[in-house]
Amino acid sequence: MTTPYPSGTLLDTADCSTDELEALLELASHLKSTGFRTQKAAGNMLGLLFFNSSLRTRVSFETAAVQLGASTSHIQPGSGSWPLETDFGTVMDGDKTEHVKEAVAVLSRYCDVLGVRLFAGMQDYETDLSDALMKEIVKYADVPVLNLESGAAHPFQSLADWLTLRELFGQDIKDKTFVLRWAPHPKPLPMAVPNSALQIAARAGMNVVLNCPEEYLLDDRFTESAENFAQEAGGNLSVVHDQDAGMQDADVVYVKSWGAPLLYSSPDSEQKLRTTKYQNWTVDSHAMDQTSDAKVMHCLPVRRNVVITDEVLDSKNAVHIDQAENRMHVQKAWLHQLWNI
Ligand code: CP
Repeated sequence: MTTPYPSGTLLDTADCSTDELEALLELASHLKSTGFRTQKAAGNMLGLLFFNSSLRTRVSFETAAVQLGASTSHIQPGSGSWPLETDFGTVMDGDKTEHVKEAVAVLSRYCDVLGVRLFAGMQDYETDLSDALMKEIVKYADVPVLNLESGAAHPFQSLADWLTLRELFGQDIKDKTFVLRWAPHPKPLPMAVPNSALQIAARAGMNVVLNCPEEYLLDDRFTESAENFAQEAGGNLSVVHDQDAGMQDADVVYVKSWGAPLLYSSPDSEQKLRTTKYQNWTVDSHAMDQTSDAKVMHCLPVRRNVVITDEVLDSKNAVHIDQAENRMHVQKAWLHQLWNI
């Protein structure tokens, strides 16, 4: 992969060409259909550094590595390993024992690849959207770094999403409409998943609709990049703020909750919008009735009957479990390439 970072590093799919990503998806499909297993990566160690909780990312990477013969080591700062400081230039006289700078440098002496999950602090918009800490971490690691979700991007999730879309629509993918639909949530969530999903659907050449309340528009950096990808691929991107109108042409509805940029300056107002004014944006059978039998995607974890109703999630059109499975296949394909298997 021709990323601007050391070979094998993946911080954002935007760092890779569409041809490279499509080749990766072909490989992932092949590994999936053949149930590929090998011991060729035996002796390799994948370090997994999680600053935030995970079910899918952790287990799907562990499984992918094991199926290639490699081992993994899971590190959760503050839970069985030292709490890590992530601010730079700070006086470390509080509860943080070790700095991420040393931790990453040391881990990269032990591990052949290092996956890192950060967190959006939800305090400073530019800090969350610039992924400055992830870029710093790459500097201190002597091995490839994999972004397991940062403030701005969740690249392996979006690759699994793209694989799922290819499985759903095959050669017809460019004729299909992908609706990225905002949904309410008790907590303000980061924008990494919607940012990444928008890029991938646009790259796939789909008709992409961002269906969200006006306060929940994604950052221009990501909508403009998606517009460029859409143009290159012969697709398009539109924004619809009406919740029923936005669903009308959907062949697939990707449901996600995220916090508004307003959150950073006025958290109480944002909370009120999310939990009161727009509470009726839950994806239910009425929302799905606006479509012609659209499929439903969600990256998980999902709060039932807040984000999506039981009826919709338990319907035959919901493909969220396939998406989760595909995490393992695309990650296995990435490691397969990285280790030259
Ligand atoms: N979708 C996803 O990244 O799931 P986890 O947070 O459980 O890893």
